[in-house]
Amino acid sequence: MTTPIVIDCDPGHDDAIAILLALASPEVELRGISTVAGNQTLDKTTRNALKVLELADRADIPVVAGADAPLKRTLRTAANVHGETGLDGPDLPDPTTKPVDGDVVDVLAEWLEPGVVLVPTGPLTNVARLLRQHPHATDRIVWMGGAIAEGNVTPAAEFNAYVDPEAAHIVFESGIDLTMIGLDVTHMALFDSTHAERLRGAGKAGKAVAELADFFLEFHRQRYRFDGAPIHDAMAVAHVIDPTLVTTLNCNISIETTSELCDGRTVVDRWLVTGRPKNAHAGIDVDAHRFLELLVERIGSLG
Ligand code: RIB
Ligand code: CA
Repeated sequence: MTTPIVIDCDPGHDDAIAILLALASPEVELRGISTVAGNQTLDKTTRNALKVLELADRADIPVVAGADAPLKRTLRTAANVHGETGLDGPDLPDPTTKPVDGDVVDVLAEWLEPGVVLVPTGPLTNVARLLRQHPHATDRIVWMGGAIAEGNVTPAAEFNAYVDPEAAHIVFESGIDLTMIGLDVTHMALFDSTHAERLRGAGKAGKAVAELADFFLEFHRQRYRFDGAPIHDAMAVAHVIDPTLVTTLNCNISIETTSELCDGRTVVDRWLVTGRPKNAHAGIDVDAHRFLELLVERIGSLG
């Protein structure tokens, strides 16, 4: 059975790889991409989404540009992780298409017919705006973001949640079937130089992913002393492709929006001690080998 999906993203190295994984996988049908400011400014994340589709010869897939800033906060980008372009490393083809016209909320509402899964892999600004106007716009969200344990942009907060905590709060209070693929599971599956070498000669998509990984690995080597990089966003798409890869726990996840030290934290009731409503499914474990093999095999099949 093929599941239609829409990816809302801030490309970003791992967003780009997530898009390519979706395009390479028959289990999902990528209906459209909406972009949001996050890893880089909106003009760059939108251009990057178009470049990835051009690379994959899928410029037929529509892209709509969304929010250029969080709901209330000042935008914080991640040039230290993704570079000035947001996709530093490979030389990707210039887009031959432009984003579709229209407000992102109207376009997403049109794309998200019943049965379409929304896969956000950036800050949740677009999703929050959509749900404020269309509370039942989608019946399932699989989000890459958040963390049960430590964050990556502050000790307490993961980047996608930290950039727009108010938006994350709206989404987590929406009552929609929501899965959080957080740092706890993405950091369990490190894409390393052996995976990159397997792809470097596997067509133009494989070569681009190897070069994206080359750049992305360097940050993780320096920050974490990892010998590999978590391809965070690809795990959210992989969870739709094969729900047996990530183990989730139905529990309460609440968003901190007023703390000096823990602003933007996804407060995950991992041991069900709060009695708060179970409003989400948190990723607590992953079959890292099977996820990485799926990623390499599918990207390699793109040619
Ligand atoms: O914290 C990792 C997340 O933030 C990923 O989605 C990455 O692309 C950035 O958006
Ligand atoms: Ca992202």
